[in-house]
Amino acid sequence: MKVVAYSIKPFEKEFLSKANQKKHEITLISNPLSLETAIYAEGKDAVVVFTNDDVSEKVIDKLAGLGIKYIATRSAGTDHIDRVAAGQHGIKVANVPFYSPEAIAEHAVALAFALNRNLIKADTHSHHFNFTNNGLMGFNFAGKTVGIIGLGNTGLAVAAIFKGLGCRVIGYDLDFPKDNTLVEHVPLPDLYASSDIISLHVPLNDGTRHIINQISLQQMKDGVMLINTSRGPLIKTTDVIRAIYSGKVGYLGLDVYEFEKGLFFEDHEKDAVKDELLEELMNFDNVLITPHQAYLTREALQGIADQTIKNLDLWQQNKCVGKACACANSCQVPKTLPQI
Ligand code: NAI
Repeated sequence: MKVVAYSIKPFEKEFLSKANQKKHEITLISNPLSLETAIYAEGKDAVVVFTNDDVSEKVIDKLAGLGIKYIATRSAGTDHIDRVAAGQHGIKVANVPFYSPEAIAEHAVALAFALNRNLIKADTHSHHFNFTNNGLMGFNFAGKTVGIIGLGNTGLAVAAIFKGLGCRVIGYDLDFPKDNTLVEHVPLPDLYASSDIISLHVPLNDGTRHIINQISLQQMKDGVMLINTSRGPLIKTTDVIRAIYSGKVGYLGLDVYEFEKGLFFEDHEKDAVKDELLEELMNFDNVLITPHQAYLTREALQGIADQTIKNLDLWQQNKCVGKACACANSCQVPKTLPQI
């Protein structure tokens, strides 16, 4: 299959090459997919994309005109892809529904630890040979209540870690996992009211966009710790900034940001004009921001590359690859793959 892969970072190449074993002819380019760069897809069968690529209706129209039949994203989330537009053109879509949920979970917990124990501030002080303990006090996670919104692969992995730390773990999910012994199922208002730490693990969809807003924030404990490693638009940034000023939110850990498209994954240090909301967030001592890197472990990268190549293999054999596909209803999902 002839493929062009967009937004490829240098560190991804070895994993893709190991997974591909030269089966598919893949052109790797660092540019994101956009209306301008779609032209690189001319003469190819498939495009491989990532979360911040523009896979909107307009771009899909252009890709269809260039003869693209398949879109494979190297991510679990498919919110960046207009799957309806893809379906209308008969373009098949695949994602990587399961790859090392521990990678994302461990990063969420790393954000929580770093915020709680002021690790960034402590390290900065130490680098200046200031070894006082002032301003570094944290709290024990043991005995605290952790609320997890979304109990799929990553939510359950986070639950296991916090359970191991001696926390009470409560959770909310539209489709709460049966037979789980880790998490107490609670209604969302109860989760907001009882949690000392809230971690978000739902995909971005119509039901979850701005799930954290002025109204939900008001229901939370004063000084709550909020962690988001899922998708930026789950949080209404302007509302959370107000809640930090008021002390309602005591700690905010973000691996994703509402307006990260065109910003994260790239170096914007020299930009004359910077994103104002992000600058405001960074002025707070109790906010920690990482650039959408929760997935970034060796194990996860190999998992992503392996599943992406498997998706291309299956398409080459005229097989469908599962739930992400807009034609899912009429496709037969092969038994060899996890049902996504
Ligand atoms: P998953 O599909 O295993 O679990 C998502 C859970 O959310 C499901 O149990 C589902 O029932 C639940 N859910 C969906 N809509 C809901 C709603 N409106 N209300 C309550 N629950 C709802 O997904 P997984 O692997 O746990 O990943 C979650 C999200 O994390 C992904 O969709 C992606 O956006 C994000 N992610 C971020 C990464 C990063 O590097 N920062 C890496 C991987 C995933």
